[in-house]
Amino acid sequence: MLTTIIYRSHIGKNTSEPEVKKFIEKANLRNNHVEVTGILLFDGEHFLQLLEGPEEEVDKLYRTICEDKRHFSLTELLRDYSVERHFGHSGMELFDLRNYEKAAVLDAVLARATSTFKLTYDDRTLQFIKTFVECENKDSYLELAESESWQFEPIEVAPTQEANAVKDLPYTFGFQPIINPSSRKVYSYEAKMRAADGQSPLKFFASLDRDEIYHVDLSSKQTALCMAKSLQLHHYSLVLKLLPMTLVKNPDAVTFLLNAIKENGFVPQQIVISISEDSVVHENETFTAEVMKLKRAGIRIAIDNFGAGMAGLLLLTRIQPELVMIDSDLLQNVHKNGPKQAINQSIIKICSSLEIQVIASGITQAEEWSWLRLAGVKAFQGDLFATVVPRKLPAIHWPIKS
Ligand SMILES: Cc1cc2nc3c(=O)[nH]c(=O)nc-3n(C[C@H](O)[C@H](O)[C@H](O)COP(=O)(O)O)c2cc1C
Repeated sequence: MLTTIIYRSHIGKNTSEPEVKKFIEKANLRNNHVEVTGILLFDGEHFLQLLEGPEEEVDKLYRTICEDKRHFSLTELLRDYSVERHFGHSGMELFDLRNYEKAAVLDAVLARATSTFKLTYDDRTLQFIKTFVECENKDSYLELAESESWQFEPIEVAPTQEANAVKDLPYTFGFQPIINPSSRKVYSYEAKMRAADGQSPLKFFASLDRDEIYHVDLSSKQTALCMAKSLQLHHYSLVLKLLPMTLVKNPDAVTFLLNAIKENGFVPQQIVISISEDSVVHENETFTAEVMKLKRAGIRIAIDNFGAGMAGLLLLTRIQPELVMIDSDLLQNVHKNGPKQAINQSIIKICSSLEIQVIASGITQAEEWSWLRLAGVKAFQGDLFATVVPRKLPAIHWPIKS
């Protein structure tokens, strides 16, 4: 199987141009040996490299290149598979764009293409090269600084005691904050359900029959609000996750929620009901009507796992949420993945046009946070900053530049 990888990167501050020429010579020999084509474009600041060849060899080489300290902010743009080569020659060739007219460099690259691909100039692989040569979008590169490094200082949050235990329940809650790490502001706390032993509640839910699930899902919100009250979270907004079908199957769900909110000393305006995009039932009128009731009562709506399901963009028109929580799979390793960067930038742009607040959840790496911050996200949640601790408020790990 043949693999093609295209990535771009930024030349390191201490990498001299003679050094680049030197490693090209070595790379040429190595690539020839393993039948990998390496086409390297360089504009004095950025590299764009195409690697094509047997899957195993390309993967191995790419992993080495990713670790190379002579460049940084490496972003994978394309990973594709084909039965025939786009480029006939293995080895390694450098095209220094400063020495070529734009058209000439494209002709020179195309001259290395196999005859089939000479005919298909619309090929995506070649389009990436063309766009880089024509310098069409370098302003949109969001690059992390070369030597940026952060430490995360844990700070206990008051109150430090446990929430009042709710007796005999097979589940409990932990409260994970949604924060702005740069300004050290806590926006809200999300109630996250856990089994009584602190583990995932999936096993407990699996033991229930369908209708019981929706009943327990709803009644557990009373428990979450009661625990939030005993943890004195009245000065924050509170995010409560709800299964969409809970609103459909329990005709009095909205009244139940409003009563629980009031009984525990909260007001609807500080409550956010988050609904997972991947479980929203398409075209369910009852669901939409119940969501509108929540909105009329002053409760805000968040779409969780945004980007993971099918309904996403349509939901933005139908439900008009106040918040969107981007799916954590779309955020994982976003700092080095071109397709994820493009999708996240589009989500951020759409949400900005609609005045929807974007929350990046499931963040585990400082680089993910740094990239998303550059892209304009302010609200973050994830184990990097605070884990879920059943019945307690977790310490928040605020970033400090090291
Ligand atoms: C932008 C860039 C492109 C590179 N391309 C290749 C390549 O196509 N083939 C290769 O063998 N090494 C390439 N290298 C060098 C590798 O990262 C690595 O140094 C080399 O494979 C082996 O490491 P060595 O320094 O231990 O010999 C590249 C390095 C950089 C910075």
